[in-house]
Amino acid sequence: KKQEKKFTIGFSQCVGSDLWRETMLEEMKMELSLRSGTNFIYKDANNSSKKQIEQVEELVDNHIDLLIISPNEASPLTDIVEKVYNKGIPVIVLDRKTSSSQYTAYVGAGNYQVGKMAGQYITKLLKGNGKVVEILGLPGSSPAMERDKGFSEELSKSPGIKLAAQVYGNWVARSTLQELEKNKEKILQSDAIFAHNDVMAASAKDFLRHHKASEHIKVIGVDALPGPGGGLQLISEGKISASVLYPTGGKEAISIAFKVLNKEPFSKENILQSLVIDSSLVQLMKLQWAKVSSQQRDIERQQTMLSDQLEIYDNQKLVLNFIVIT
Ligand code: FRU
Repeated sequence: KKQEKKFTIGFSQCVGSDLWRETMLEEMKMELSLRSGTNFIYKDANNSSKKQIEQVEELVDNHIDLLIISPNEASPLTDIVEKVYNKGIPVIVLDRKTSSSQYTAYVGAGNYQVGKMAGQYITKLLKGNGKVVEILGLPGSSPAMERDKGFSEELSKSPGIKLAAQVYGNWVARSTLQELEKNKEKILQSDAIFAHNDVMAASAKDFLRHHKASEHIKVIGVDALPGPGGGLQLISEGKISASVLYPTGGKEAISIAFKVLNKEPFSKENILQSLVIDSSLVQLMKLQWAKVSSQQRDIERQQTMLSDQLEIYDNQKLVLNFIVIT
């Protein structure tokens, strides 16, 4: 059997502690478990671009064969990513981008498209008339810039739709609640709110409930994650009206990493599909998810059985050798 080379892959994550990025890491680990012997070094920059730069330097010092990175903010991380790339270490940029095209491959959904789809959905929901609020992610992070562009462009096509307020929620609940409070009047008079992720969408709904705002204000988010606290649950509980599915790309990033490392053909731009999920689709999505998770558990059971069998086989070989020798 051909001896496979053991690779070291470094993964620099902008922040690790939210459901979306936990899901991404799980997907990566699942894909890695199918390629035994890979050394995987994981670093979580906890929302700090400065810390992320240092962690990338540490990864390079650890002699990684390939870097996967989800840059916190585009511009501050551009230099270091270019440096790593120009050293000859392949770089896979995942979800968030840098400001440069010097990288080996990109994996992620089209965020301009995500914004556009949200805009189309809201325009239809409001029948072309109404006041809209946009809650943006972290300024300087590429999905926030691209989602905003797609969304604003789409809304500007309808003369009856007015973008009444834009606030930065920085992807998290706390900033969202603070910013909404500062813009309270405009928010409470709006007809629909588009939040750049479901975490901020859920906060917007909490804010509206707290202020006893009328139930007619529709809230739309992004991510549409399955599982407890995820967007699918928010939709089925009627907390938010819809969410634009934003796949994490964890599995794809690992499989492209191996193509790069094994010198197999790959595409530089790998754009994942997204779609709007509302109450009409949410049941289907949940069923599909339940099925995939049960299949996943079957695979894990098979893996355990396989390694048990291998152990038995190794023991038998040992006994056999012993018999032959004595
Ligand atoms: C998670 C997250 C997602 C969002 C993505 C954008 O950290 O905020 O909710 O879709 O990052 O990069």
